[in-house]
Amino acid sequence: MGETLKTIRERRSVKSYKPDMVPEEIVQKIVEAGTWAPSGMGRQSAIIVAVTNKELRDRLSRMNAEIMGTSIDPFYGAPVVLIVLADKRVPTHVYDGSLVMANLMLAAQDQGIGSCWIHRAKEEFESAEGKELLKSLGIEGDYEGIGHCILGYPEGEPRKEAERKASYVYYAR
Ligand SMILES: Cc1cc2nc3c(=O)[nH]c(=O)nc-3n(C[C@H](O)[C@H](O)[C@H](O)COP(=O)(O)O)c2cc1C
Repeated sequence: MGETLKTIRERRSVKSYKPDMVPEEIVQKIVEAGTWAPSGMGRQSAIIVAVTNKELRDRLSRMNAEIMGTSIDPFYGAPVVLIVLADKRVPTHVYDGSLVMANLMLAAQDQGIGSCWIHRAKEEFESAEGKELLKSLGIEGDYEGIGHCILGYPEGEPRKEAERKASYVYYAR
């Protein structure tokens, strides 16, 4: 199997992490892979906010948990959160941002780092607190939250993969 196919095949969502921080140069490599995702008309509508600051990471966790209606950590202890948002003015922004998310998760797998898509970014950045947070980071514009790609070192055994459903692919030859 080629390396890319192996990476795609072996990536699994990691739902338990060690507290150890991912080295900055690895975070940067993963983030850069995100920036190389294709986008509708090449408009690069997405942005990535790479959060390694523990205080901010914990604040995002609290905001996300509140949307879910729980008090558990929706980031499973992962020390890094890459928030993907995309410019609402661009018609393909949700697709663009989703492809960035896929690149991030695959690049993490390539680098031996665990990852998982954590949802509710849309609701998070529709809130007054979310908007204020972006503003405080100097991010201007009307962005929709697409997802959080959490990163870290997996704790314990990988989750068992689900079999692919029988009706996934239809060939029209
Ligand atoms: C759009 C999307 C939203 C997701 N949201 C969450 C989430 O909020 N919390 C979570 O634990 N996993 C989330 N996941 C991860 C899925 O649970 C995971 O991809 C699925 O169980 C399949 O496992 P695999 O990625 O290991 O193949 C999300 C995945 C996608 C694609």
